[in-house]
Amino acid sequence: MRILFFTGKGGVGKSTMAAAAAWQLSQKYRVLIVSLDPAHSLGDVFGVTLNNERRRFTDSLYIQEIDVQKLSKEYLQREINVLSSTYRYLQALNLDNYFSVLKYSPGIEEYALLTGIEETIRTEGKFDYIIFDTPPTGLTLRFLALPRVTITWVDRLIQIRRKILEKRYTIHRIRGALSKEETVLSYDEGDDDVLKRLRRLRENYQALNGILQGESCAVVLVFNPDILSLKESQRLIEGLDDLRLPLRLFIDNKVTEENKETANHVESNIRNLKDVPLERVSLSGALLDHKAGRLYDIPENIISML
Ligand SMILES: Nc1ncnc2c1ncn2[C@@H]1O[C@H](COP(=O)(O)OP(=O)(O)O)[C@@H](O)[C@H]1O
Ligand SMILES: [Mg+2]
Repeated sequence: MRILFFTGKGGVGKSTMAAAAAWQLSQKYRVLIVSLDPAHSLGDVFGVTLNNERRRFTDSLYIQEIDVQKLSKEYLQREINVLSSTYRYLQALNLDNYFSVLKYSPGIEEYALLTGIEETIRTEGKFDYIIFDTPPTGLTLRFLALPRVTITWVDRLIQIRRKILEKRYTIHRIRGALSKEETVLSYDEGDDDVLKRLRRLRENYQALNGILQGESCAVVLVFNPDILSLKESQRLIEGLDDLRLPLRLFIDNKVTEENKETANHVESNIRNLKDVPLERVSLSGALLDHKAGRLYDIPENIISML
């Protein structure tokens, strides 16, 4: 299975390029295209209403727009349930009261998005391609960074948890047998739920990071022949490099006779930053027409590289 992320500044044509690629790939392969951008336009590109449901567009092409708000709420509720059941003995920990505030907490949206991606990749083995149309650059880089950020935190938490268990064990040895009414808190690493969950979390994020950095994943960066789009691309290239994510293709979209000079300038700047294949797509005067079997024509070269 191949996993593609279409990234770039708002308005450069990410959704259009992702949709065109999905459409063309679906002539030969089974393709799922998922929009993660809160400002969805995938449904519009394909001329259908999606409402967060996965929809069969043709036998080999499925489309979905993920409702990030809804995903965040579900993610938070799930985490609260896990916390409450792990710490059943702490009566004072009633997180439900904080739910309405926690949903605004920084990081929730990023974790929710990442969980959505992880679930899609894990459960959708029947597709040859999963294509993600991404949200704005800042948010995209933050959720793509999360596996590594999380592993760093979880490692620290594992250390702290082991210290807690050691202390509990010492107390247990000194105090000896407990009376019947007293709750026995685990002190053994083998049966501590918190430690087990931390280790499982670490494994999951390690596996996800392996997938994101691996051969089967490709990030496509779309830009336009203009300076603002160049600046944002520079930030994206740097960010993706820091995260060691596989940027594999540049698309310079909306090139015309008039902006050719700027296109050359922007492209040479981008090429200097990273040695990755670059393809041009011209600004098309044609209307998007999926029913007639074509979106904006994108060169066959692009498809063969995905
Ligand atoms: N190659 C192209 N030729 C003509 N119009 C294009 C082309 N690529 C994108 N567009 C138009 O540009 C606008 C923004 O494209 P979109 O794919 O929604 O951008 P993004 O997803 O990056 O925000 C849309 O109106 C789209 O139809
Ligand atoms: Mg878009």
